[in-house]
Amino acid sequence: MVEISDYLTAPHWSSDIPLTTDHFRVDALAEHGYAVLRDLDPEISEKEFLNLEYMDWKSGGDTNFAPIATADGNLDCRGFWKPGDEKPDKGGQWTTNAEQCPSLVACVEEVGADFGRVRVIRLAPQSYEEALRQIHRDDNNRFNPEDQGWVVRQWIELTDNPGAFMILMEQGPDGLPDASTEVRIPFHRNVRVVVDTQRLWHVVCNPSPTMRYALITSFESSPALADWIFANRC
Ligand SMILES: [Fe+2]
Repeated sequence: MVEISDYLTAPHWSSDIPLTTDHFRVDALAEHGYAVLRDLDPEISEKEFLNLEYMDWKSGGDTNFAPIATADGNLDCRGFWKPGDEKPDKGGQWTTNAEQCPSLVACVEEVGADFGRVRVIRLAPQSYEEALRQIHRDDNNRFNPEDQGWVVRQWIELTDNPGAFMILMEQGPDGLPDASTEVRIPFHRNVRVVVDTQRLWHVVCNPSPTMRYALITSFESSPALADWIFANRC
């Protein structure tokens, strides 16, 4: 078991993000905080994600992001929390990138749930140890009223990166990830997983020699999202 204190220093900004709220949540994520779905079929053509407009934005390692839906449709990774115009991570508007990736757009729209940020992440190779230094929780529900649905995230893996996996850990009583709860979700092209990334500390390790690409979408929990997860679970 890894010693988290070797990788993270306390206090960590993630520890202050709320865990317990009154938002509506889907039952499928209640026990473990994640649900692995059946692989995407058919797969997404490389031309839909390699040629998008990527921005320099660091999250979870050496990353770039291609925004496909944002708060206002502009190519801006920060949009939802713009000072003076703060919005929860939903009601996403398609950007110019969306015109280049109709199959990715269809993957989001078929769910039938409200979505916020939609983007393709490009993650450079990073070892397990390097990844652990980037493990964090997301502030998905900032500005999201508690009488509405809890925002969670879906991943669709777009490339094969041998040895890649997502690391998930529950938060321990000290406010840091509890290594005894570690789960590893093996990644290959077409893996789909929905993760409560505000609850679980998470990061992806990519020990392969090539860039990893994945679609990440913020979805608001709702009966429609619950039904879709149920219909697509392994
Ligand atoms: Fe994250």
